[in-house]
Amino acid sequence: MNQKEFLPINGTDYVELYVGNALQAAHYYMTAFGFQPLAYAGLETGRKESQSFVLRQGKITLVLTSALTEGTEIGAYVEKHGDGVKHVALWVDDAALALRETVGRGAKMYQDVKASEDENGWVITSGIHVYGDVTHIFVERSNFNGVFLPGFKPWNPEFRAEPIGLEYIDHMVGNVGWNEMNQWARFYEEVMGFKQIISFDDKDISTEYTALMSKVMSNGNGRIKFPINEPAEGRRKSQIEEYLDFHGGPGVQHIAVATDNVIETVTQLRARGVEFLTVPPAYYDELLDRVGHIDEEVAALRDLGVLVDRDDEGYLLQIFTKPVEPRPTLFFEIIQRKGAKSFGKGNFKALFESIEREQALRGTL
Ligand code: FE2
Repeated sequence: MNQKEFLPINGTDYVELYVGNALQAAHYYMTAFGFQPLAYAGLETGRKESQSFVLRQGKITLVLTSALTEGTEIGAYVEKHGDGVKHVALWVDDAALALRETVGRGAKMYQDVKASEDENGWVITSGIHVYGDVTHIFVERSNFNGVFLPGFKPWNPEFRAEPIGLEYIDHMVGNVGWNEMNQWARFYEEVMGFKQIISFDDKDISTEYTALMSKVMSNGNGRIKFPINEPAEGRRKSQIEEYLDFHGGPGVQHIAVATDNVIETVTQLRARGVEFLTVPPAYYDELLDRVGHIDEEVAALRDLGVLVDRDDEGYLLQIFTKPVEPRPTLFFEIIQRKGAKSFGKGNFKALFESIEREQALRGTL
């Protein structure tokens, strides 16, 4: 049953955050996360209402955008949500076809097909709304050889921080409202041609206090993976519910970025001031009984707080940052896969208890 995909996607093109201060956010992601400066757009390039800094590390392109005036969509986003992910842009061969296929299957259009060009060629984009205020922008860039998109100029500040080995986006997780997970899983299936590869119910993901449910949706070539979470009933407030309260509705919960040396990457991140969730030391006492042989020294993992999980195909190492903005909303996951294609189910309990300790400190458990 090999059906031709109606929405072939080559990979993630970029992730754009709307933030209060793009200049300072860019500095943070360069200094702390090792992103490299790539491109810039603002008053100096003829933009009147917004300013964007584009950063890159490995295949990850991060765009940080702020409003320059009042009354913008960007300002309204930040007022409502705080800093967060607005656009998850997908790299396609035909942006007009991507819009036609998805809107034809029920997606709501965010941006009609638009061609933009400069001396480096032309790019065609289009876009659809997904959960909350998040969009998918389809980017067709085969006729462009500039640094990012038409209208951006190369950004070459004197300051650079060393990269820390981040390679690509492994997955991006969306939090949606009560009883909305199935609706959004269906959206990715029917409107975008994704398949559900894993599902977790509240028995998999619950602690004494909180619970959530999750379905992982993947596109045909597996390069795009979007787990979708919804809160489930527990004795106390679910971490997903806390997110929804502070974010002001559904949105992107975390961006998982891959490295091929989690120990080096996390050592660098910690040295540069990035803070992570911690697990009790007892987690490491039983680690090898649970996951079997691993190449890494347990002591090194314990010192850094890196978690390990195994599935039929191998194992993975992962760690989660604390939220990277004032509201307890968006955070990052650093993941190294050694064969495992799963998402760390064996760590959920230890991890959620860690999140609950943070929730308790915030008074939102
Ligand atoms: Fe994750």
